[in-house]
Amino acid sequence: MVMKIVAEISEVRKARWSDASTAWGLVPTMGFLHEGHLNLVRRARAENDRVGVSIFVNPIQFNNAGDLEKYPRDMERDFALLEKEGVDLLWTPSPEIVYPAGYQTYVDVKQVTGFLEGAARPGHFQGVATVVAKLFNVFQPTRAYFGQKDAQQVVVIRRMAKDLDFNLQVVVCPTIREKDGLAMSSRNVRLSPEHRLQAPCLHAALSVAQKAFLSGTRDAETLRKTMREVISSAPAARIEYVSAADPETLEELDDIADGALLSVAVFWGDVRLIDNIVLEP
Ligand code: PAJ
Repeated sequence: MVMKIVAEISEVRKARWSDASTAWGLVPTMGFLHEGHLNLVRRARAENDRVGVSIFVNPIQFNNAGDLEKYPRDMERDFALLEKEGVDLLWTPSPEIVYPAGYQTYVDVKQVTGFLEGAARPGHFQGVATVVAKLFNVFQPTRAYFGQKDAQQVVVIRRMAKDLDFNLQVVVCPTIREKDGLAMSSRNVRLSPEHRLQAPCLHAALSVAQKAFLSGTRDAETLRKTMREVISSAPAARIEYVSAADPETLEELDDIADGALLSVAVFWGDVRLIDNIVLEP
């Protein structure tokens, strides 16, 4: 089947309900696709009769105008990649379709947005929750697919889907990495060659902390200190936060338990990268 590419909400609804009895998987993205995105698409392909993907660089989740402006885009390449994965429906709306003149409704998830990315990027998760709620309403998927790479986003979306009674399953897929450990991200292409060489220290820091945990360290501050030290070995890295938090409430821990979420946010120049790992016994 050829991939149907649509912009209007009415067209998404028509395509989706032409196949009302079948299970639909939805993969929301902002485009400039890489293996992390394609892995979500493949999982959706395997678990559903039909697969929908959205590409929308959501302006209201960017707390920094420069980051929005410089966000990489390549629609032609994205179309070809998705067609090859057997995607049935691609929604690429304009900002005016998603937020028409007079738009004034926003979704605010409270406690869990107070930490980490939510604290560092004011308004970010209101933008994410709002657009994802709209995507869920427009597609009404059976299942929706998200990456563990954005660990707090998963917590926020799960909470929102439960609180607003969305009748769908949120499926979380593992973080896909480059060979040197760097988590794939659309923003990686904006790193200078020198900064690109330093960026794997994010994953290295998480791995060193994980090893310390596995060999018995349970003091959270010790793990945070370890991560800071590893990242600081990269000369140009500017740490925004390192965290060892409860995986559900996202509050910083004093004592580490199984399932704790280690996460980091680091700038190289004006490029901001995040990564995380869940501590399993
Ligand atoms: P975007 O950054 O394009 O990511 C789309 C999806 O791909 C998200 O669920 C993200 O967690 C996942 N993803 C990105 N890099 C990944 C990697 N290396 N491994 C595994 N999964 C990865 O996240 C967003 O867009 C937006 O906030 C969105 C949910 C689309 C709302 O606008």
